[in-house]
Amino acid sequence: MEVHSHYSLKHFNTFGFDVHAGLFAAASTTDELLSLLSDKRYRALPLLILGGGSNMVFCDDFNGLVIHPQMTGIEKQAEDAEFVYLRVGAGVVWDDFVSYAVQRNWGGAENLSLIPGRVGAAPVQNIGAYGVEAKAIIHQIECILIDTGERRLFSNAECAFGYRDSAFKHAWKNKTIITHVVFRLRKKPVLQTHYGHIAAELKNYPDISLQTIRQAIITIRRTKLPDPAETGNAGSFFKNPVVPNETAARIAAIDPRLTTYPVDDTSVKLPAGRLIELAGWKGRRIGNVGVHTQQALILVHYGGATGHDIMALAAAIQQSVYNKFGVHLEREVNVIVNPPNN
Ligand code: EPU
Repeated sequence: MEVHSHYSLKHFNTFGFDVHAGLFAAASTTDELLSLLSDKRYRALPLLILGGGSNMVFCDDFNGLVIHPQMTGIEKQAEDAEFVYLRVGAGVVWDDFVSYAVQRNWGGAENLSLIPGRVGAAPVQNIGAYGVEAKAIIHQIECILIDTGERRLFSNAECAFGYRDSAFKHAWKNKTIITHVVFRLRKKPVLQTHYGHIAAELKNYPDISLQTIRQAIITIRRTKLPDPAETGNAGSFFKNPVVPNETAARIAAIDPRLTTYPVDDTSVKLPAGRLIELAGWKGRRIGNVGVHTQQALILVHYGGATGHDIMALAAAIQQSVYNKFGVHLEREVNVIVNPPNN
């Protein structure tokens, strides 16, 4: 395995920022990963595990070692009357895994069709879309502990999954590298079509199946979300804030056009995209960055800008939404900046 120096990350971040890694290595096997981790030359360096870079803003070069997990393979590990258990390498493209499952009529991943990125990154932020989160199908996670090189299995419960959140962002941050994810998929799929526009889109298809749900979601995503291969972006830039009912009532008084979504008896979810839109940002462009015309939660890079430009735009949006609604938008993406911010 080659370790490259001053390696361009332009194709390893979906914003397409032209930054470099001090050192870069793609690890195709767990053994390659272990040999990197045990190499004394690299031990003192800052470490960054980078999958598809679809949730990253690189403001600056990363002055350390970037490891790109490339473990491939999808294998059936076990099966019972209800479920099949698939062990998938961290380097597998997420949507290739979804497509593989849908083709075999194994249910659970279909609503997560076309999400960019690699399988190993999916549990970290518990990716979600169209009423489903990855946590619903994650059975186990195989990791390497960075300090000791030990192998460690995490059960679903140990991952402490939350909304775009997991233990890999907190207690286990910078301590583990995910090498494989074991998914538990249903042999008798339970179709989830209640969210948003899925049901309406499905009217264009002859039946409702895993295949047509996948197609419907791909169609919806293609109309609303910019393709990172064409326009740099990292999906939703902010999380949808969850606020107490009283805050929602106060906001409704400021602008009654805001629809909210109940979470439980005392709190509601606010659509961050709508807050940004109502603050006047949808479709706005500032220099070579901007707010997507179809989905205000997505910040876009038109080429020639830097992560700092995106962060300046993000800060202006946060300030403006706060001024209008008194709500703080929390970032959903990870930011790499020098000196490090965490
Ligand atoms: N909305 C607007 N204006 C906008 C954007 C959204 O009014 O510019 C409204 C929509 O009309 C809808 C509501 O906000 O009533 C929710 O919008 P949408 O269904 O498009 O989803 P979202 O809340 O903006 C979330 C995820 C997406 C995921 C979609 C679909 C987060 C932070 N984002 O977005 O995930 O694809 O739901 O399930 O939870 C990502 O995490 O990168 C991502 C793209």
